[in-house]
Amino acid sequence: GKVYHHKFVIKSSSFTRLCDTKNILTVNGEFPGPTLKAHRGDKLIVKVYNQAKYNITIHWHGAKQVRNPWSDGAAYITQCPIQPGDMFRQIIHLTTEEGTIWWHAHNGWARATVHGAVIVYPKRGYHYPFPKPHAEVPIILGEWWKKEVMDISDKANKTGGEPILSNAYTINGQPGHLYPCSKEETFKIVVDQGKTYLLRMINAVMDEDLFFGIGKHKLTVVGKDGCYLKPIKTDYIMIAPGQSMDILLEANQPLGHYFMAGRAYSSAFGAGFDNTTTTGLLIYRDSNFNSNHDTKMPMSTPHLPPYNRTQAATDFTKQFRSLATKTHPTKVPTKVDTHLLFTISVNLLNCTDKPCTGPFGKRFAASVNNISLVYPHVDFLSAYYNKIPGVFEMDFPKKPPMEFNYTGDKLPEYLLTPAFDTKVLVLEYNASVELILQGTNVLASDNHPVHLHGYSFYVVGWGFGNFDPKKDPKNYNLIDPPEETTVGVPNNGWVAIRFVANNPGLWLLHCHIERHNTWGMATVFLVKDGPYPQTQILPPPGNLPKC
Ligand code: C2O
Ligand code: CU
Repeated sequence: GKVYHHKFVIKSSSFTRLCDTKNILTVNGEFPGPTLKAHRGDKLIVKVYNQAKYNITIHWHGAKQVRNPWSDGAAYITQCPIQPGDMFRQIIHLTTEEGTIWWHAHNGWARATVHGAVIVYPKRGYHYPFPKPHAEVPIILGEWWKKEVMDISDKANKTGGEPILSNAYTINGQPGHLYPCSKEETFKIVVDQGKTYLLRMINAVMDEDLFFGIGKHKLTVVGKDGCYLKPIKTDYIMIAPGQSMDILLEANQPLGHYFMAGRAYSSAFGAGFDNTTTTGLLIYRDSNFNSNHDTKMPMSTPHLPPYNRTQAATDFTKQFRSLATKTHPTKVPTKVDTHLLFTISVNLLNCTDKPCTGPFGKRFAASVNNISLVYPHVDFLSAYYNKIPGVFEMDFPKKPPMEFNYTGDKLPEYLLTPAFDTKVLVLEYNASVELILQGTNVLASDNHPVHLHGYSFYVVGWGFGNFDPKKDPKNYNLIDPPEETTVGVPNNGWVAIRFVANNPGLWLLHCHIERHNTWGMATVFLVKDGPYPQTQILPPPGNLPKC
């Protein structure tokens, strides 16, 4: 493979949106940040210079970082943050992922503006498992915040206050024509009739699943999270925070302008949510094409499902199937030696410090197996590698404290008041793992898009209500389950995932809804080294940041 060198300068830059100018944190002054491109088998070497006044880390979301957790970029998990004025060099070897993945800041709420796409083409000399598209278009669904996002995790959210909402959703940084002072800059794709385009779509918003569609056009989803899927033809997609999708768009409609639109499908505070929609334009090139003329009214807006349609979301996601072909085989573990059951909950706590602005005079917390992750003061990985004692404990539980009807009305007190701990779950090298992610009814809650660093996994089953270990495994898909890195655990439901623990390191598992993550909905896998040097963690790089 080839090696690509990139320079990421983290700095504050001025942007104007919604009639308002402010400084936001960027990479190289761009919002969204730069798109990196490589083929499978290539290496990205990225020097991250921190010229901002905040600490920063950059995570490569969907890149497995085989044997190289040092470049994963999760603050206090695999590295100390890069301090202002410092530089850190990350190496991303794209060995197994193919399709769209992405990068984003991984400390506090910095990822709200610090993010961008990574496009991984097939290995040199190999082809897509679909006809080659005429052109490729990265589409990042994001947000504009009038508030200073860098303050959010330190203030309201860390103390578990009310969620804070952004002021607009955006398509490639633009809110679209429905928002004030935004019409002129609306994001546009210009297409030639009869051609096919590959949309490289990412949901980079902090807290909301989004629906997306294009008026009069069908979308064909062919990949998710850097793994291919059997094509799904659909009028709309549902994409959760952290997820990425590869989508074919055939420009097969009459010449004209068409709206594309994205909007949230639910909110923890449904009724209070403002029904905002971000829009972009799909424009057919014709003989007197002029991209600036705005005289033609768009011909059609997409029909997106109404709000709070869990059904519409699952109707879409349940269609995911991996290719399972000779060239793109599915390697789902059929035998399991390590069974895990994690409850993922939003919790309420009595407040000890002010401000306490949550519901019922309480504050929010969130947990996995009733443990709310407390970050250590030095990263887990260095503590493990350098055998620094007392940083974390190794006894994260394999199942919740007791069995219960997790989605019923009456929940035990223990599920309401999580423990606060710094623990890892230890996995033997090559363990064949099945993990059930079980949502609970502690608070009426969202779909939780759970992301695992360092791995992709097969989603072999899902359902609403409580996972039933006797019945549910009989319905597992072990033939062509989708391979993902961020799986949506349905509202009050469960998913079953399988993977082989063959990537040694310390790997974060967390909900990609940022406020849940901030409240502690996260835990860490410690995957032990294998028996041979080539199955062990690589030595640390020379310029690892210090805490
Ligand atoms: Cu996209 Cu741990 O994150
Ligand atoms: Cu969540």
